[in-house]
Amino acid sequence: MSIRTLDDLLAEGVSGRRVLVRADLNVPLDKQTGAITDDGRIRAVLPTLGALVEAGAKVVVCSHLGRPKGAPDPQFSLVPVAGRLGELLGAPVHFATDTVGESARATVADLADGQVALLENLRFNAGETSKDEAERGAFADQLAAFGDAYVDDAFGAVHRKHASVFDVPARLPHVAGRLVLREVEVLSKLTGDPERPYVVVLGGSKVSDKLAVIEALLPTVDRLLIGGGMCFTFLKAQGLEVGTSLLEKDMVDTCRNLLERADGKIMLPVDVVVADAFAPDAAHDTVRVDGIPSHRLGLDVGPETVAGFSAALSQAKTIFWNGPMGVFEMPAFAAGTRGIAEAITKADAFSVVGGGDSAAAVRALGLDESSFGHISTGGGASLEYLEGKTLPGIAALEN
Ligand code: 3PG
Ligand code: MG
Repeated sequence: MSIRTLDDLLAEGVSGRRVLVRADLNVPLDKQTGAITDDGRIRAVLPTLGALVEAGAKVVVCSHLGRPKGAPDPQFSLVPVAGRLGELLGAPVHFATDTVGESARATVADLADGQVALLENLRFNAGETSKDEAERGAFADQLAAFGDAYVDDAFGAVHRKHASVFDVPARLPHVAGRLVLREVEVLSKLTGDPERPYVVVLGGSKVSDKLAVIEALLPTVDRLLIGGGMCFTFLKAQGLEVGTSLLEKDMVDTCRNLLERADGKIMLPVDVVVADAFAPDAAHDTVRVDGIPSHRLGLDVGPETVAGFSAALSQAKTIFWNGPMGVFEMPAFAAGTRGIAEAITKADAFSVVGGGDSAAAVRALGLDESSFGHISTGGGASLEYLEGKTLPGIAALEN
């Protein structure tokens, strides 16, 4: 790979230099309390930040959180993240209450060697996500003024052509951080020559989100196991009734076509857990997929499905998993996701968990993270990588 790395930058010496680090600190927050519910992405960037602190750099961290609309919005503030990051680093994080304004300028100017600052949410500025090159460029100029060098460690955002990801590296000496390197190293094993059988498990709510990756994976994988909300559109495509389950009507023909072309590689659920309502305490039962009552909705895969999927996973030498099998946040509908996750940990295989919900599920269900080969911090990013797309954040580092 023709990408310079953090080690190259450290070898040049960073003591007293300002290093701008793009991190993906987009962590899930509790809707009621605003507390961080999964700090995995904060922990994932610690190796890079720790190395820079150790080397005496003035570390300026920037990130997005959620999808604010280009203006300050308190519910998306990085304040709680600054607190947690400070706890994990064991040193206070200097917080700028804006991204490139007066507070940011003062905070960066006041940094001593080996100290860390966090700028407020990048997406409080329209320039971050703008499609207009000039608008993005103007914001990138302001950000780049805070660094003598740039480190991209925001793997979860490398698929975004945003100012902090794509335009800043064009303005500063740039390197890939430890997390970005590790993610690319692992995912390139899957797109290269994976040890077989190569089994992929996909879940999550929408087929439309996963269509491109299914198309890209079908020729490569030995088995594709499909659960989660998206399985109902496939079941419908097989002529089954799915009650009031999630259904993407305009994707039914596409799913039918995929099943025809899949050569038997696609495995669908044989039983599902159906409920009266989308609620943690809703009355529910397990039914065969050809017996879903018209007034009920599927919220998890059933035990026979878990057994069948687990058998396929037990044969695998390489596994990629993205997307929960059911509404795992509700204990009544978590068994499918837990069962599949456990089968993955038991398989004698190199396993990769795609980021986002599946990574959060692993931690929320209290599974041992170290029993997976790799847990990605990128949801969309890891999928786009597997699709073989050019990722703007990686391309920008290559130049
Ligand atoms: C993610 O959570 O997928 C990344 O942080 C990217 O966020 P985005 O999908 O809002 O660009
Ligand atoms: Mg996303």
